[in-house]
Amino acid sequence: MKKNPTVAIVGATGAVGVEFAGCMERRNFPAGKLVPLASARSVGKTMAFRGANVPVQELTESSFAGVDIAMFSAGASISRKFAPIAVKAGAVVVDNSSAFRMDREVPLVVPEINAADVRGHHGIIANPNCTTAIVLMALYPLHRKFGVKRIFASSYQAVSGTGAKAIEELRRQVDQSVHGEPLTHEVYPYPIAFNVLPHVDSFLPTGYTKEEMKMENEGRKIMHHPGFRASVTCVRVPVYRAHSIAVTAEFEQPVSVSTAREVLSHAPGLDLVDDPTKNQYPMPLFTADHYNCAVGRLRLDCALDNGLCFWVSGDQLLKGAALNAVQIAEELIK
Ligand code: A2P
Repeated sequence: MKKNPTVAIVGATGAVGVEFAGCMERRNFPAGKLVPLASARSVGKTMAFRGANVPVQELTESSFAGVDIAMFSAGASISRKFAPIAVKAGAVVVDNSSAFRMDREVPLVVPEINAADVRGHHGIIANPNCTTAIVLMALYPLHRKFGVKRIFASSYQAVSGTGAKAIEELRRQVDQSVHGEPLTHEVYPYPIAFNVLPHVDSFLPTGYTKEEMKMENEGRKIMHHPGFRASVTCVRVPVYRAHSIAVTAEFEQPVSVSTAREVLSHAPGLDLVDDPTKNQYPMPLFTADHYNCAVGRLRLDCALDNGLCFWVSGDQLLKGAALNAVQIAEELIK
């Protein structure tokens, strides 16, 4: 890989897409050139990068000539169609969609956990599901110490995880509510303002949603832990940015809160925010726009042996998406 790669961003106008450029800029990623790509609707828009306004181009089959790294965040169907085209043109794809995550040939990487897996790529590297990535930032260090068997978790997921249209929908509904107007909805099946939806992604015959099963499936692959089990309820909440997850984890070894605190206080990419006497715990308002995830509310689970409860919050557009992708790109040019 070149030291100053040409980087394409597919979905450059989307909620995650705009964050790719910001992360590269703030981390001084040595991109030689930026190629923002989106649909024909976005031609005429620009992407701010290092003081320049780079024109957005329409994504076509010939968009990838000369591109070294292509970061995709335009949905799974665009990834399925265009990622192989990008690879054929010589690019390495870092894909934020679910299209290739469970493909055996495709590494699924959280650099703080399994950076070495990047080396085994065949052209595509997958970025994990955002909720999974945020949970694993806290769970994996605990797993290394105590050996995780299974988790039970509920998520509190921000609307920006659904994309730019969902951010707009929440804004509009808040405005409608303030003005006493009926709440109109297009993105979600019910109003999201002043509501919570126990429904993220589509339902499976088991009653779980696809999103809920990503924690177990992707968690096993990232942690190299095929026996890991996860029972999750994913909930959409009227928060603009940053997901939070309440986790109960059961471990092989006995756990103590003091050792867990010690482990988590040294974990990369994670802040320990855990002082109930001062009302200190992680919250999405304060993890939004931050690279690090935050963990708190540590306590021994009162209903499980070797069980620990914790609450983790993180910016899903950053650690759950763009930041993680840029960290993968950094591994590629190391
Ligand atoms: P566009 O803004 O031109 O529609 P989000 O996840 O926030 O909804 O963003 C989705 C991203 O994927 C946007 O950048 C969007 O571009 C892009 N996108 C959606 N459909 C296509 C398409 N058919 N071709 C290229 N880009 C697309």
